Amino acid sequence: MASAPPDQHRIERLIEALETEFPAEPDSARVEIARAPGRVNLIGDHTDYNEGFVLPVAIELDTWIAFRRRQDGHVRVASRQSRETGSFWIDQLAPVDGRGIANGSATGMSRGSGRDSGGPHWTDYVAGAAWSLREATLPVRGFDGVVDSSLPLGSGLSSSAALELVSALALLGGGHVLAAPALAALAQRAERDYVGVDCGIMDQFASAAGREGRALLLDCRSLETRHVALPWGLRVVVCDTGSPRDLRNPAHRDRRAECGRVVALLSEKMPGLCSLRDLDMASLRRHRALLPDAAARRAEHVVAENGRVLATVGALEAGDLDQLGRLFAESHASLRDLYEVSAPALDTMVEVATAVPGVVASRMTGAGFGGCTVNLVLADAVPALQAAVSREYDRRTGLRGRVYPVAAVDGAGPLATV
Ligand code: GLA
Repeated sequence: MASAPPDQHRIERLIEALETEFPAEPDSARVEIARAPGRVNLIGDHTDYNEGFVLPVAIELDTWIAFRRRQDGHVRVASRQSRETGSFWIDQLAPVDGRGIANGSATGMSRGSGRDSGGPHWTDYVAGAAWSLREATLPVRGFDGVVDSSLPLGSGLSSSAALELVSALALLGGGHVLAAPALAALAQRAERDYVGVDCGIMDQFASAAGREGRALLLDCRSLETRHVALPWGLRVVVCDTGSPRDLRNPAHRDRRAECGRVVALLSEKMPGLCSLRDLDMASLRRHRALLPDAAARRAEHVVAENGRVLATVGALEAGDLDQLGRLFAESHASLRDLYEVSAPALDTMVEVATAVPGVVASRMTGAGFGGCTVNLVLADAVPALQAAVSREYDRRTGLRGRVYPVAAVDGAGPLATV
């Protein structure tokens, strides 16, 4: 007998898990399934919160949720990847202060690895989505749900954005009419104002608005988008360094503060300067003496990186592989030397990949300090890259690198009602 397509297996496993965790009752609603992809950013890092440009791709590694909507505002949620479950009442979620939250009023919320022990718990992202949608006075209802993710956690592929988005889809139910930008903004608010991680808009936007076979050019000021076709024969390959990154790293907050400082210092000389998006290289050079050296280097990265995003769009459209290689190399060097968010593992991964014939472009991607590199690779060179990582990278770092060739996929949405 021919085997069913893998997606069908995944649906069946997820429904089984839902029936085990939260057995259906006679008046239970039908089971709905929704999915949200992770993302990898081709180029444009640390530009989103400076109102600049980014060029992410929604990837086939993703998060699914199977859920039954409830009549009340109770949410009960479990995960195929974690033994810890969570439950809360939507109307009892409340920020404790204006910065992060202690979710004091949620009932029965798992606390095993929660904020009390320093990091967010996975269910905080679900609760954050509920809080954010409720604050926006959207018609949310509770649900019983089970999530299943193929995204490696803590690798910088936006597993948290995907979880926020599937949670939002479950809270709204299949009939919702929210467009991708609105969904992305609500999910970002969940992460920033509820979970307390000061992220930009890129991750949630990419997960909400990605498109099959295309990268997403996003102007983080106007939120205008353009889908850019990836050249035929070129694969996007993610290399995970095996060295986790953490957005709560104080250095991440410091970088944002330095960018804000540059704007504050230069706006005296440059009226109308609202963010680093408004700065050009000539003005930065002219006023450089007014800035602390580190802050000036952060700004130099952001200004040049915005230009590289637009140049990368041109190179993708022209199929100019040499230019793609140069732009990725410049971006990596800038993130390493000017923005100072690379790490030895990321630098080594880029070195190993760049030495493989057929690897067109390679750079660190995302927040930095660990996580992944992104590579553009001729399709027939992918096995050589995989071999080089397991041979060279692992030997040189003592870490276990992983290689994920990824297809560009559509953004978050409902999958099925069963
Ligand atoms: C993280 C943040 C994004 C973005 C990147 C760096 O992924 O969540 O908003 O700032 O880092 O480009």
